[in-house]
This record gives sequence, C-alpha cells and structure tokens, in this order.
Amino acid sequence: MDRIRIRGGARLRGEIPISGAKNAALKLMAASLLTDEPLTLTNVPALVDVAFMAELLRSFGVAVELEPGTRLGEGGRLSLCAARLTSTTAEYDIVRKMRASFQVLGPLLARHGEAKVSLPGGCAIGARPVDFHIKGFEALGARIDLADGYVLARAPEGLTGATYEMPFASVGATENLMTGAALARGRTVLKNVAREPETQDLGHCLIAMGARISGLGTSEIVIDGVERLNGIEYKVMPDRIETGTYAIATAIAGGEVELVGARAENVGALIGLLEKIGTEVAATKRGFAVHRNGFRPISVDVVTDVYPAFPTDLQAQFMTLMAIAEGTSHIRETVFENRFMHVPELARMGADIHVEGDTAIVRGVPGLKGAPVMATDLRASSSLVLAGLAAEGETIVNRVYHLDRGFERLEEKLSAVGAEIERLKA
Ligand code: UD1
Repeated sequence: MDRIRIRGGARLRGEIPISGAKNAALKLMAASLLTDEPLTLTNVPALVDVAFMAELLRSFGVAVELEPGTRLGEGGRLSLCAARLTSTTAEYDIVRKMRASFQVLGPLLARHGEAKVSLPGGCAIGARPVDFHIKGFEALGARIDLADGYVLARAPEGLTGATYEMPFASVGATENLMTGAALARGRTVLKNVAREPETQDLGHCLIAMGARISGLGTSEIVIDGVERLNGIEYKVMPDRIETGTYAIATAIAGGEVELVGARAENVGALIGLLEKIGTEVAATKRGFAVHRNGFRPISVDVVTDVYPAFPTDLQAQFMTLMAIAEGTSHIRETVFENRFMHVPELARMGADIHVEGDTAIVRGVPGLKGAPVMATDLRASSSLVLAGLAAEGETIVNRVYHLDRGFERLEEKLSAVGAEIERLKA
C-alpha cells in the first residue's frame, strides 16, 4: 500500500489549481441515470471515488466514456449515457466502498420504477443511517423493503409528488429525493433541506436538463415533476473542501499561496476564522490567496454544522492548525458523532488534544514532531499530511488510499508550492 513521506518545515509559495468537486461530481454522475441521452461532464476530478461511481454506473449498463485522448482532471470530458439499462441492482461489493453509491436510488426508482441498493459503507465516521432517504421515498409513494442488507424500492407507476420535511438537513437525502422528484408526477416540496453548494450544483444541472426546481440554496425546495429530462454538457463546480484544505495548509506551514479557480464565497466560514487567527486572505483575479508570515496563529473555537456554517469535512484539518496555535481551542462536531479518529494520530505527533463528548479541547503547542501515522478516513488523512508540513523531521502517512478517494494529486500539488512531500509506492 502506498505511503506519503513529508519532511516538515518548508514554507509554501506559489499557486495551487483547485480541482472539480468530488461531492458534486459523484451526484452529477448518478443523475445521468435520469435520461436516455448522454450527460457530458467536464472538470471531473481524477479520484478513486469517481472510478467507483463509474464502475457502479457501468454495472447498470450505463456507457461511461472519457473523450478519447483526454484524461480526467486535465480537461477530460466524461460522457455518461443511460440509453438502455441492463440492471437496477447496486451490489454490496461496490456500495460498501463508497456511501455516495446510495445516490443512485432516486434516479433508478424515478426512471425505472424499481431499485435494489445495498445499504452503504464508506468512511467509518459514525452510524450514518439512510432513514431520511427511505422515509422521503415512501412519502413519494415508493414501497420500500429491507432484506439481506439491501434496500428494495418499488414504484411501478412512478413516484408521486408529496411534501416531506427532513429531521436534519442531510446532504445525501436532499440530493437523492430531489433527483427522484424531478421525474415524479406533480409537485414535491422538500423542507429543511441541505443548502450545500454541491447540492445547488446538482440542482442547477437538473434544471439545465429540463427539471423544474426552485428554492435551491434555501431550506425549502419545490420540484414540479416533468416527464423526461435531456442530455446536456455540464461543468462540475470547484472543490470547496480541497480549497479549504490548502488554505489551512498555508496557514499551518506559513508562506503565501494562491488557490486558482477557488470560490471564496463557498468557504466563507473558514475564511472568517483564518482572518481571526491572523492569516491574511485576499481575493485575486483567479480565486483567492492565503498569506501567513512569522507569527504563530491564535486559537479560536469552532462548531461544525450544515452549510453555510463551518463544514465537518474541514474539521480535522482545522484541528491540526489549532494544534500549533497559541492558546486553547474548543472544536465541537455536530454533524457526525464519531469524527475524532485523527486525534490519537495527531497526539502521536505531539499535539495536546482531549476529547469530551462531541468537543475536542486543543491546547496549542509550539511545534509538532514527525512520526509514522495512519490515515483513518478521507478528511482525517489530509489533517495528518498537514500536520507533517508543520512537524519537525519526517512524517510517514500510512493507508493513503483514503486520500486518493478525495484529493486529486495531493502530493504533486503540495510539492509544487515547496512542500517536501513524496509518495512511496508500495
Ligand atoms: C455528505 C458528504 C460528506 C459530508 C456530509 C456532511 C458526499 C458524498 N458526502 O455526506 O463529505 O461530510 O455530507 O456535510 O457528498 N443522517 C441520518 N439519516 C439519513 C441521512 C443522514 O441520520 O438518512 C445523518 C448522518 O448520520 C449524519 C448527518 O445526518 O450524522 C449528516 O449526513 P448527510 O448530510 O446525509 O451526509 P452525507 O450525504 O452522507
């Protein structure tokens, strides 16, 4: 298994291009199931999760093709055509690798009247049930049975518009129900929905395909079902979690980095905190730049929550920053109940962190020490790489496959701005 070796201490200087958003690309790919015409996606990142989704869609008979001679992540155009489906079963072997596989339920059910999808796996960051998805589809008239680890959903006459209020603004449930409702009969009103930029991106793509959706970016979405959707070409939005990760990396290592293609408005909560701790953030023509020189960052408290609050997917990275800041920070995780698995690994590098319930109390230390550490989940892995940038000596991050699921060419991008980082091939 590959590992990543980092020698800490180098300041970062230069520019980092921001890739297409993983969490948008995966759902956009699943939306191809809604139409018999090709959906062509551009700016799709080259990630293991994207390959998983392509494999899953192919298992239904979707033709997934990259424009000849092009590559993902480098201007490649990914064409997905679900003209004829040969299966509506999402097998455990694929779904267990990636929770986002569950997003095929809505499109399959809406267009084909049935779907059998394995209950999902993915990162080990809590129970992560799918009850809101299931209750929502039942509200839309589907019959749902659970058997042998699979969700069996049937709506032979199609889905019917209804009102459903989610107990929590779940990203996945909002997106699954919105895609399903796009082809339902009549009006669907979804209340207490996710407002995440990726959810809006999916909604904009569906609208361009002919769906009638209003209220994107607010807590209530109204969808008037249409009979069919068309194929289009759509550009995946830039990744705000990758953006935030490199912004935090610069605050940790010091220096000045321009994040090219980044959208500052999508990481407003993070930028507010970076400015509070003494980092400068400035808009540029191509994105924005982060700058920290000399002084130590100051501790601040953070609470993760649904968008537009501070994202749970940047919690681990921000904890690394707080680990070397001046003072004590309280970091409260309200979205997932088991998302502190990076804490013992950071502690191995000399961080002083103590977890009480849903809050990590981080007492900043003047410096970290390099150590062998183990990646536990996708975002936590990146927090260990960031810790390595600040640490004295050598850090080896094991189990890098987690990183490859969500960060495109991470070691190349960081080494291009001066980090001493390399991949050790297995
Ligand atoms: C998505 C993102 C993930 C991010 C998360 C929160 C993708 C592929 N993944 O995950 O990176 O961390 O949003 O921003 O886009 N819940 C239930 N029942 C449900 C659904 C969710 O109880 O039916 C709970 C979950 O256990 C969790 C919380 O709601 O505690 C948030 O989950 P959700 O917003 O659904 O996250 P995902 O869509 O899985």
